[in-house]
Amino acid sequence: MCGIVGYIGCQNAIDVLLDGLSHLEYRGYDSAGVALMGENKINIHKALGKLCNLIEDLKKKDPKEIKSHAGIGHIRWATHGLPTLANAHPHSCNCKGLTLVHNGIIENYQEIKNFLTEKGVTFTSQTDTEVAAHLIAYEYGKTKDLIQAVSNATKKLKGAWAFCVMHKNEPDSIVATRKNAPLLIGKGNGENFLASDIVAIIKYTKKAIYLEDNQIAKITKDTISIYNEDLILTENKVESLPFEPVALSKMGYKHFMLKEINEQPDVIRNILQGKIKDEFSKVNLPDVNLDKKQIEKINRIQIIACGTSFHAGLVGKYIIEELTNIPVEVETSSEYIYRKTIADEKTLVIGISQSGETADTITAIKQVKEKNAHVLIITNRKESLLARLSDSLLHINAGIEVSVAATKSYIAQLVSIYLLAIYMAEKKDEKEEKLQTIKHELLMLPAKIEAVLSNSKKIQEIAKKYSSYKNFIFIARGINYPSALEGALKLKEISYINATGYAAGELKHGPIAMLDETMPVLAILNKGMVYDKVMSNCEEAYARRAKLIGVANNIDDKHKTIFDDIILIPDIDDSVSPALNITVCQLLAYFIAEYLGKDVDQPRNLAKSVTVE
Ligand code: M6R
Repeated sequence: MCGIVGYIGCQNAIDVLLDGLSHLEYRGYDSAGVALMGENKINIHKALGKLCNLIEDLKKKDPKEIKSHAGIGHIRWATHGLPTLANAHPHSCNCKGLTLVHNGIIENYQEIKNFLTEKGVTFTSQTDTEVAAHLIAYEYGKTKDLIQAVSNATKKLKGAWAFCVMHKNEPDSIVATRKNAPLLIGKGNGENFLASDIVAIIKYTKKAIYLEDNQIAKITKDTISIYNEDLILTENKVESLPFEPVALSKMGYKHFMLKEINEQPDVIRNILQGKIKDEFSKVNLPDVNLDKKQIEKINRIQIIACGTSFHAGLVGKYIIEELTNIPVEVETSSEYIYRKTIADEKTLVIGISQSGETADTITAIKQVKEKNAHVLIITNRKESLLARLSDSLLHINAGIEVSVAATKSYIAQLVSIYLLAIYMAEKKDEKEEKLQTIKHELLMLPAKIEAVLSNSKKIQEIAKKYSSYKNFIFIARGINYPSALEGALKLKEISYINATGYAAGELKHGPIAMLDETMPVLAILNKGMVYDKVMSNCEEAYARRAKLIGVANNIDDKHKTIFDDIILIPDIDDSVSPALNITVCQLLAYFIAEYLGKDVDQPRNLAKSVTVE
């Protein structure tokens, strides 16, 4: 959450900062701001809401006023304090000589605020960040050296941070540091960059230096100096950035979300390439460092993730247990980290995260690493903090996902989990026939998703019909239970309709009390082991006058009449059906939100990367 960018060099800093922030906007859109180094002062410009508001304000300024060789920028996702102009970053000390941008949370800010207030500091915002600006300025008053001041101050802070700091007395440098929040340096020619994500700077450089926790960097236009926490000069590897600048274009689609849903078939083809040849060949996962002996030793698997990635993990439980006979537990990272960590060298821990930056998941993975568990990370960002903690990596390679609501990354996570489950089962010589069926289904999946996508018009019509309902229930059983959870999450996050997913068998243990004609129930019923069971639950809902939408590959004639609407998907083996069913749910959520005129790609209160606990 929050995005930060810094620039020093011969270009006009504001151009680089605004361009960088435009690629970071998915991280927050409560406010945007920049600080530009001027003649013996720092000029700050902020605007509420999306970045376009700041850009409009800056257009009205005299270009000379915003010309600068160095600057820092920020887009905010509010944690402490309302989304107001006073709380927007950058934040400065009282004399305005020092200014900074911050991503993270200062947990002990109140204690430091009390200390600084006693020293005569006045506060103008409700943020935790402002405390850091005053504290570093206070330390600067003693040391007259920005690196030393940042070091002294951060030693007093608790929490997570990535800071970019400028001081008017040191106009030719920017100082940066991080702890438990992402920050990297882009190395240029006669210019250098700082960013919380490579997408902000990839257009300008392909060379990056990743800062470690507690390291402090000072960048000038020609130099990059990195210090460890004892302020000893140290050297970090310069790495090549992994991808070309991405044309973040909607390619004619109205929203990124719709474009990303439509990319799903190609995303799957991409993942499968080189990993499965045909149903008779073994799965090849070159970055999974687990051989037959190690896999046979594993007696327990824990999957840790948040949000949509957690739902992918739940599908993983069904399929991995089915194929490998190893017990799997799935837990949200935020719950995992606040209880005893039970894992050892026989445990395989799978962390799933699209961004590779989710703070809770990073904390959980750090905890299990201390227990010597093998850590396998499934992520879309192989350069991320989380990927760097892995013993084995499954890069889902879905391409940049811009829409805050995860779609193509979910499908890519599912496919990667299937591949992993098959890979492990093959090493254990388990269930050859079933593996062939799943491999065949995976190879057919892109075409089957294309068939669902070609049915978009019908889903759009159904979406229109249900867009005025205030509540929604999604039900399913077995391996599609997570599809019900994910379908409900998609709908609520982009349309703000109150949607809940239930295991269909649980309906009669409470939720059925809510059913009447004002409550649509979307039931996922594949022709498989649990079809009849879910159908009975549909009958129960019908008897309470709920509106019923069926998503299925076939519905028997005798049952058709209980449904208000039926969305048919191609025939598919139950085990792989979550990937098809979720495509229907994604489209339904999209069209409802679009029909309601919601901000589909940037839903209120959400951010793409959740880098705070
Ligand atoms: O980057 P991650 O996969 O770790 O993110 C986890 C969740 O924050 C994310 O899936 C979130 O739930 C999305 N908004 C879902 O659409």
